[in-house]
Amino acid sequence: MQIAIDGPAGAGKSTIAKMVAAQLNIVYLDTGAMYRAITYAALSHRLDFDDTAAVAALAETAVIRFEGRQVFLNDEDVTAAIRDPEVSRFTSKVAVIPEVRALLVAQQQKIAGDTDVIMDGRDIGSVVLPEADYKFYLDATVEERARRRFDELKEKGQLGDKTLAAIEADIAQRDYNDAHRDVGPLVCCDDAVRVDTTGLDIPDVCAAILKAIGEDCR
Ligand code: CDP
Ligand code: CDP
Repeated sequence: MQIAIDGPAGAGKSTIAKMVAAQLNIVYLDTGAMYRAITYAALSHRLDFDDTAAVAALAETAVIRFEGRQVFLNDEDVTAAIRDPEVSRFTSKVAVIPEVRALLVAQQQKIAGDTDVIMDGRDIGSVVLPEADYKFYLDATVEERARRRFDELKEKGQLGDKTLAAIEADIAQRDYNDAHRDVGPLVCCDDAVRVDTTGLDIPDVCAAILKAIGEDCR
């Protein structure tokens, strides 16, 4: 089984994908973590992000591995490091490099060829798994997505001096970059079920998705 979940930042993709994976006992693959891991590697090597050949060459040598909820890059546990705001900021620079996308898409397709999977990202339904059994596009207003991120950071004690307005501006910029790149842009495929999660809580969204794939919430 292949399930594709796409949508903008803060739409609830990873939260919902993890829950659906647990319910169906299938693998969850966080493709954003892969783009983040390459970005982290490039920052660690102090690469110039405009030197796309250097970033692509580094990506060729990177070994990304998932173990449960942990992400490893060349055997280093980068689970927390790839969520750093600096990584978030530069990931959209890495995500536009066609060679990097080709490399990561091939790795994602290999995983989907070996096992039942639910993947979330931006280009899953359109590029990675065009023949997926189910495709969903999760969305919510930018205001609500920013509020979710704000609450999440506050709860984790990671808010620092960030304001809600600054988080909203970051998200809006990232959405724009993701939707306007030439390769693998964020799109809602014609054959995807679009779910507007504005005002919906997590169990409601999870139930709607499970219902669409003919499963009951357990
Ligand atoms: O969780 P959040 O929405 O913050 O982002 P993410 O899923 O971790 O993805 C981080 C960034 O990686 C996105 O803003 C995209 O630029 C890029 N990405 C991508 O280009 N293609 C994917 N399939 C997944 C992520
Ligand atoms: O993966 P993506 O960036 O699409 O979003 P996420 O990381 O799954 O969700 C961002 C935040 O919104 C998390 O703190 C979720 O708990 C929260 N959320 C929510 O409050 N209501 C939803 N319907 C979905 C997510």
